[in-house]
Amino acid sequence: MSATATTTAFPYRFLAFEGVEGSGKSTQVRLLADRLRALGLDVVTTFEPGATAVGRILREVVLGSHESMTPLTELFVFCADRAEHVAEVLRPALDAGSVVLTDRYELSTWAYQGVAGEIGPYLVDRMNEIATGGLHPDMTIVLDLDPAAGLARNRRDDDPDRMESKALAFHKRVRDAYLTWASGNPATSIVVDASQPADAVHAAILAALGIPPE
Ligand code: TYD
Repeated sequence: MSATATTTAFPYRFLAFEGVEGSGKSTQVRLLADRLRALGLDVVTTFEPGATAVGRILREVVLGSHESMTPLTELFVFCADRAEHVAEVLRPALDAGSVVLTDRYELSTWAYQGVAGEIGPYLVDRMNEIATGGLHPDMTIVLDLDPAAGLARNRRDDDPDRMESKALAFHKRVRDAYLTWASGNPATSIVVDASQPADAVHAAILAALGIPPE
């Protein structure tokens, strides 16, 4: 992959945003994308699950329906969506020299299915390695928030999906999983207090990434 003159100033090519429900990831992806574009970078924003044509169907399978499914089925569907996302969106964008920001990626599976769910992190690691083909983010930004506050923010949606409907204890395990992963991977993670107003969270992300504020 060849770096262009504009992208060399910004050392990251592939950044993932992670966090519990209602932690403000999509807002922060948009704000960072706007800032990077203002600095002249070509930026692609994307998300999981469901950013491709096949992924939209898989998203409906895993989130839209309230049918029960085995934990293994759930794992495979998220990983199938990821394989499609890598092939159809992420690799092409990175190969074209764009900076890519994704709202959720492999760490979501690790936290939700691996640690908080029943699969265990070991199998998730193996599945993620297959699904990503070894494409890992240069930097993962964890938006840290008490899940009770995040779920309350989302409660305006009157139709919670399969994951949102899980007990608070599940979402607390997700939060703890993110923090555990970040503390074990300090060189490739940033943890930001997402209980602050969105502009303060954005400023903290810019500072952590070494990007000058607006
Ligand atoms: P979504 O509606 O995209 O919202 P948000 O990311 O803002 O929470 O929800 C995606 C849901 O899917 C969310 O509950 C997390 C869950 N999820 C997993 O459990 N495993 C995964 O691998 C991914 C990508 C998402």
